[in-house]
Amino acid sequence: MDFYDVVERRRSIRSFAPTPVPDDVVARALKAAQRSPSPLNSQPWRFIVLNGQARDTICSIVAGSSRLLEDLLPLVDPAVIEQAVRFFSDLGGAPTVIVVTLPRFTADYDRKVALLAVGGAVNVLQHALAAEGVGSVCVTSAVWVEERIRSDLGLENDEFATVIPIGYPAAPPATPVEREDKVLRLDVWPRAAEGRSSG
Ligand SMILES: Cc1cc2nc3c(=O)[nH]c(=O)nc-3n(C[C@H](O)[C@H](O)[C@H](O)COP(=O)(O)O)c2cc1C
Repeated sequence: MDFYDVVERRRSIRSFAPTPVPDDVVARALKAAQRSPSPLNSQPWRFIVLNGQARDTICSIVAGSSRLLEDLLPLVDPAVIEQAVRFFSDLGGAPTVIVVTLPRFTADYDRKVALLAVGGAVNVLQHALAAEGVGSVCVTSAVWVEERIRSDLGLENDEFATVIPIGYPAAPPATPVEREDKVLRLDVWPRAAEGRSSG
């Protein structure tokens, strides 16, 4: 598939077939993710790939957080909550789950640029998987149970970024959702247009 086709067709997948994703497919996608740019080539991402019993354990930890979804009941359509609770109960049956973390930064700037780089790498990972026909979804709401995830995995000093269940989609991905064009195009710097120089 051409790069732009992958970008156009990728969807977040929340229901997976039980078929395992071959290790070499996951490794290729992770290698692509780790080609991502980062500040001073710091490569601040860390990917933890969970299969088998480790996968079952992360799923049960995340499932434990669905009671927190119920707190949102008054705010959100109950059907949406019901769908989310079902997905959280076993992360859509994903055969593999990837946890993404980064080092803990104290300076705001360092943290901001590291998070930007990790987001970029996660994005490449999801698109590389999509190019392989493998579905995924960023589950940042697993942050509700991040302390348990970090301590069980011995990553107490890391910052939690996201959990990403991956697997072959249980059904063909839905048609892409339209996106708004949020690009501002300028030929003249606005302050100059008002007759002020940038000084
Ligand atoms: C940073 C980030 C956080 C997200 N967190 C969640 C999440 O916690 N749970 C979830 O089901 N989807 C999550 N998503 C998936 C978005 O809901 C999804 O990307 C968006 O609705 C657009 O749909 P699409 O990915 O199918 O194009 C997240 C996506 C991103 C990029």
